Amino acid sequence: MILDGKALAERIKTALTEETAEFTAESGVTPCLATVLVGEDPASAVYVRSKRRSCAKIGFESRHHHLPAETSQADLVQLVEDLNSDASVHGILVQLPLPSQMDSDAVIDAIALHKDVDGFHPRSVGHLALKKEGFVSCTPAGIMRLLEESGIDPSGKRAVVVGRSAIVGLPAALLLTHANATVTVCHSRTAREDLQAAVEGADIVVAAVGRPHFLPGAWIKPGAVVIDVGINRIPDPDRPRGRLVGDVEFETAQERAGWITPVPGGVGPMTIAMLMSNTLLAAKRAVR
Ligand code: GUN
Repeated sequence: MILDGKALAERIKTALTEETAEFTAESGVTPCLATVLVGEDPASAVYVRSKRRSCAKIGFESRHHHLPAETSQADLVQLVEDLNSDASVHGILVQLPLPSQMDSDAVIDAIALHKDVDGFHPRSVGHLALKKEGFVSCTPAGIMRLLEESGIDPSGKRAVVVGRSAIVGLPAALLLTHANATVTVCHSRTAREDLQAAVEGADIVVAAVGRPHFLPGAWIKPGAVVIDVGINRIPDPDRPRGRLVGDVEFETAQERAGWITPVPGGVGPMTIAMLMSNTLLAAKRAVR
């Protein structure tokens, strides 16, 4: 069966629209997400536009700051600090990747914890590890919500997370651990035979390495749940811009999997839905 992230994300955003109308009517506060884009990376521009469109649909304000690629680190940090002290801003999103002269870690460190709706701040990641209140990184949060809404309980299951990034792989491994799965983390340097053994034994596979078709479908255990976070563009003779594929060989994997996310239309839309959910939460926490 297909795990339809696109349809679920739409349902979540519809529910958030109602919740936001109620919240704004009661508190007089309109949730506001500040978006910061530095430079002209076309993919980043598309993502930010899509996040801002979701804000508008749900009833949030979005305040956009587009800075030139040659902006200094100090100026960007100053902008973040101004947004931190602006009480009308509830969430701050600095779109990554930043231009190469910037130290992304230092910029993320500057974001106030209570406005870190991306969940990228080291203390947000620490709070997640320790199960304390905080913001959870949107893609891993979206994965857990997709499992939950599909009636898939990770408790006691074997999960493998392929990828160890700070924004997807590691937090996904933490969330699955908190949900009582037995979690193995593999990555680009895991020996191929160890990777194969881990995937073949897994009831839940989360693929987040960013390499097209890194996992052969034939490795998927029959009935397993496959969550494919990869969005990779590969050449296609029929399409001038190529086509998007995941980290898992979908055609063969879907023959074996019990549940599988498509690419696109699986995890991607859930990420934005969770960002919207975090932004409303930030606004609610600000007025409580
Ligand atoms: N770049 C790729 N994904 C993300 C994301 O979820 N948030 C931000 N800020 N930048 C990204």
